[in-house]
Parts: sequence; C-alpha cells; structure tokens
Amino acid sequence: MRSAQTLIHPAWLRTMHWTNALAVVVLMMSGWRIYNATAFNGFDIPKAITLGGWLGGALQWHFAAMWILAINGVLYLAFNLATGRLLRKFFPLSIKALLADLGAAIKGQLAHADLHHYNTVQKLAYLFVMADSIVLVLSGLVLWKSVQFPLLRELMFGYEGARQVHFFAMAALAGFVVVHLAMVALVPRTLLAMVRGR
Ligand code: HEM
Repeated sequence: MRSAQTLIHPAWLRTMHWTNALAVVVLMMSGWRIYNATAFNGFDIPKAITLGGWLGGALQWHFAAMWILAINGVLYLAFNLATGRLLRKFFPLSIKALLADLGAAIKGQLAHADLHHYNTVQKLAYLFVMADSIVLVLSGLVLWKSVQFPLLRELMFGYEGARQVHFFAMAALAGFVVVHLAMVALVPRTLLAMVRGR
C-alpha cells in the first residue's frame, strides 16, 4: 500500500487536473473558431488550430467543454477547501519569499527538490490561473445569458466589455499554459508525479 508520505498529488487532484487540461484545450480551440466569426479585435486565429469547423460546430464543442470545466473547477475548489489543501499548498505568500524565488529563478537555481511543496512563483501562478478561470467562466456567463445576469454584465462594462474580458482572460490563460508547459519540460519529474501521484 502507498504510504501517505510519498503521495504528492492525491488521485482526485490528478483526475481533476487532467480533466481540466483537456477541457481547456477544447475550450480554447473552439473559442478561437467562435472568435473568428466576428474577429472583433481585428485579426483572425489560424483555422488550423481551431476546433469545430464552423461557428455552430465550435459552439457545440465550447458548451460541452464549458460544463466540464465549470463542474470540475467547482469540485476542485470544494475539495481543496474542505481538505485544507488550499491553505496548506498555496499559502502563506510573502513578498520576501517571492523576491528570493524570483532571484533564484533568474539565476536558474530555483529549488524544486521536494515536489510536496510549491515555491512562491508556482503558488502565485496557480492562484492566478484559478482566479483567471473564474473570470473566464463569469464573463462567459454574461456572453451566454446576458439578460439573465445584468449585474455581472454591468461589472464587465456591458456585453462588449464582457467579450473583451473573456478574450483577455483567455489570452492570460494561454500565456499561463505556455509557461506552465515550459516549466514542466524543465523539471520532468513533476509530470511523473502528476500522472502517478508519486
Ligand atoms: C497538457 C497540459 C498540462 C500539463 C502537461 C500539466 C502539468 C502539470 C504538472 C506536472 C503539475 C505539477 C507541478 C509541480 O508539481 O511542480 C501541474 C500542476 C498544476 N497545473 Fe497543470 N498541466 C497542464 C495543463 C494545465 C492547464 C490547462 C491548467 C489550467 C488551466 C493547469 C493548471 C495547473 C494547476 C492549477 C496546478 C496546481 C494543481 C494543484 O496542486 O492543486 N495545468 N500541471
């Protein structure tokens, strides 16, 4: 039997992480196809990296993956809160520790010996992506059911504002994924731990 000490990521966390990764890929690629239907920021996303073929098809993919991301995200937060993992893994945060970790990262000396603990840069990046995902879901709600969520709509500067919020939150998520994958490639042991738990 596995000892609790060697377990880095519990099975529920790994299941949710990979479900989330799949949902994000589908959402992003189908979202780019939906964006291309209006290209409201003045440029097109290359069709080869979009999903759904046409607007109607892309919307179907987007809605299917949206439910997966939203339900998975609520469960992830609920499990993390209920088990106390959120506080344990992502807090405390301090400016001093952040500066020390950033300095070490620049010198290529950021410690990653103990995979049970995240360094301050990781803590911030993961908390950022959690908050960004919440903004994505909420702005998506405004785009989907604008009339039913008037307060949310106004908080996002109206329907057109919500479109931009959704777009830039997507771009921030894409930026996170690029850096995240680069970090995983630099420390491949972390990938093994996210697959096997140990
Ligand atoms: C195929 C793409 C992905 C790969 C290979 C990957 C890999 C990993 C790995 C290896 C870790 C553990 C890092 C460590 O122990 O130092 C991790 C953690 C994490 N990843 Fe990813 N990831 C992917 C996609 C994503 C996406 C799309 C998101 C968010 C939208 C995401 C969000 C996170 C978060 C929040 C954590 C921390 C989880 C926790 O401990 O609660 N990942 N990822």
